[in-house]
Amino acid sequence: MAKGFLSLAQSRKTAHEFSSKQVSKADLLRILEAGRWAPSFLNLQPWEFVIVKESQAKEALLKSAYYGIYTFGDFKGLPPVVVAIVLKKKYWEGQYGYPRRDKPGVFEAYLSIAMPASNMVLEATDLGIGSAILNVNAYVAERTLKLKDGDTAPLIVCFGYEKPGAKARKRSRKPMESLLHYGHYGGKE
Ligand SMILES: Cc1cc2nc3c(=O)[nH]c(=O)nc-3n(C[C@H](O)[C@H](O)[C@H](O)COP(=O)(O)O)c2cc1C
Repeated sequence: MAKGFLSLAQSRKTAHEFSSKQVSKADLLRILEAGRWAPSFLNLQPWEFVIVKESQAKEALLKSAYYGIYTFGDFKGLPPVVVAIVLKKKYWEGQYGYPRRDKPGVFEAYLSIAMPASNMVLEATDLGIGSAILNVNAYVAERTLKLKDGDTAPLIVCFGYEKPGAKARKRSRKPMESLLHYGHYGGKE
């Protein structure tokens, strides 16, 4: 019985502490290739990737994360490499997609950039490489990455090898039965 992908998905976890071991260029390119093949709304592929290895830039990005690496408590140190997902203005400003609220297309663009992040962390897991997806302060990201013309980068993905002995965290998910509805919201099987 096939269980390869499911066990990969279950074993992926957010790494909170990385060793100094670098991710090889070949592995990083493979991870990025998995990201490149992610699905997106209208196949617009509204992403570009910035590879960040310089400590100051990584630190600025990570510090700005929501419950950032330094404030969340369990995160320690810097990962060897960060991939920032750039969302071009023409996608997030809403010229593509269905009108919702006051900005058409915004949701589709933001939903789409999560897809390469997901593909990349799963590829990394398959390669034995640790990862963490973080939402960063977009203004900090725009400055740090020298983005222009309203392009933004709300999501980054950290990669590296988890430090041996890093504290194991209890991971959990809501029970399946609490998620499922049949036919309509609240419907039973
Ligand atoms: C889109 C997205 C944004 C996230 N942003 C942050 C973040 O800013 N700070 C953080 O500590 N964790 C962040 N995470 C990691 C989640 O907290 C983590 O995936 C969740 O707690 C489940 O743990 P697990 O990844 O080990 O299964 C983010 C995850 C995703 C998918």
